[in-house]
Amino acid sequence: MAKTAVPNPVSMMRHNASAVPRRLRGMLSLDDFEGPARRHLPLSVFGYVSGGVEDDVTLSENRAAFRRIGLRPRVLRDVSRRDLTTQLFGQEYALPFGIAPMGFSALAAFDGDVVLAKGARATGTFAICSAASLTPLERVAADGGSRWFQSYIPGDRDRIAALLERVRRAGFDTLVVTADVPVAGNREN
Ligand SMILES: Cc1cc2nc3c(=O)[nH]c(=O)nc-3n(C[C@H](O)[C@H](O)[C@H](O)COP(=O)(O)O)c2cc1C
Repeated sequence: MAKTAVPNPVSMMRHNASAVPRRLRGMLSLDDFEGPARRHLPLSVFGYVSGGVEDDVTLSENRAAFRRIGLRPRVLRDVSRRDLTTQLFGQEYALPFGIAPMGFSALAAFDGDVVLAKGARATGTFAICSAASLTPLERVAADGGSRWFQSYIPGDRDRIAALLERVRRAGFDTLVVTADVPVAGNREN
């Protein structure tokens, strides 16, 4: 695959600070989005995005597991050249993470799937287009530049073949298979 120029997200943020919309300037962590989102979104959409299922037991355990991971600072090292670029499946990315697939993103923001894909691409990383996107996958690929597609694989080979052909034809080259939803979660929110 052709190597693309990888932007440096840290210097992009520093140089574009004044380009950040005013209402986003106070957002210093992901949690800071929660209050404004609660006021902005219909309750059911906010509940879908912010909540897990039933008593949020797994959601809380996941967060607790991440909180237990610490970063060990190494002092008195040469940090004049820092590099977050990462190789994944033969492609170079500016960041060692991408945006996970989120279904129904267009409920939370206008053209959400395309916006996520464009933002990820502009930052030198990727957004995974969800099989539960409300926007046709062809448009997420064409307008958003998305190359990663997530699928819940149906249990029948003909449907799998037809799906993969459509995904390939749209221009996606990386498939993410979600296997942990044999039945839909009970999203009471
Ligand atoms: C609103 C929302 C929608 C999601 N939709 C999907 C989906 O369509 N397909 C999928 O495989 N995972 C979906 N997920 C799961 C995420 O891709 C991800 O695995 C999960 O949120 C854990 O990552 P996090 O800790 O960064 O949130 C969704 C998560 C959220 C919060």
